[in-house]
Amino acid sequence: MNPQIKKRLVRTALFSLIALVIGVGVGWMQIQMQAARVTTKEGKPAETAMPVAGLSIGGPFSLIDHTGAQVSEKTYEGKYKLIYFGFTYCPAICPTELQKMSRVLSALEKNHPEALENVQPLFISVDPERDTLDVMREYIGLFHPQLVGLTGTTAQIDLIKKRYRVFASKVEDETNQDYTVDHSSFTYLMGPNDELIGMYRMKDTADQIYQDLIKRLGL
Ligand code: NI
Repeated sequence: MNPQIKKRLVRTALFSLIALVIGVGVGWMQIQMQAARVTTKEGKPAETAMPVAGLSIGGPFSLIDHTGAQVSEKTYEGKYKLIYFGFTYCPAICPTELQKMSRVLSALEKNHPEALENVQPLFISVDPERDTLDVMREYIGLFHPQLVGLTGTTAQIDLIKKRYRVFASKVEDETNQDYTVDHSSFTYLMGPNDELIGMYRMKDTADQIYQDLIKRLGL
């Protein structure tokens, strides 16, 4: 064979092979991307609330509400509960989450006023040292009137934190004059029999939570 022609043939074969490899590669990537899309679509929960099947959360507690009344899990029996753990000195996340909860309650009040009394929103302190009754009362006044703030002794708070698997830890600031509290930031939806129904995350909007809640309430 003419060496020139041979060279050209080899080159053509080589280019064909490269084209084939690229072609297969692109096809494979497209399949992967499609698969990823399907997975994302299917992996996304239909409900806003996180799946909670099998999670044992909740149980007996004894605390004091922001009006000074002694309360326990029995106080709210028969009601749905939206529970958020935080602390009044929290600079950003707690107020944002409680404002969000207030918007959910306002939407419920507006669209299903009869259902409002079946939903008890609770804000439970993870900083009982600073969240005294007076501090709590003043703070709760900033949010929806249905919201109840709970605090207690360190031992009482430690117990409910354990029952709800709440992570919270004190972090001293640079000057050691003050501290903040790193804490988990879920809103729990508990059912009338104190069973965990759902958990909402920070990224869930007031509207998403409201839509999920009315569905759960059968409204
Ligand atoms: Ni906070």
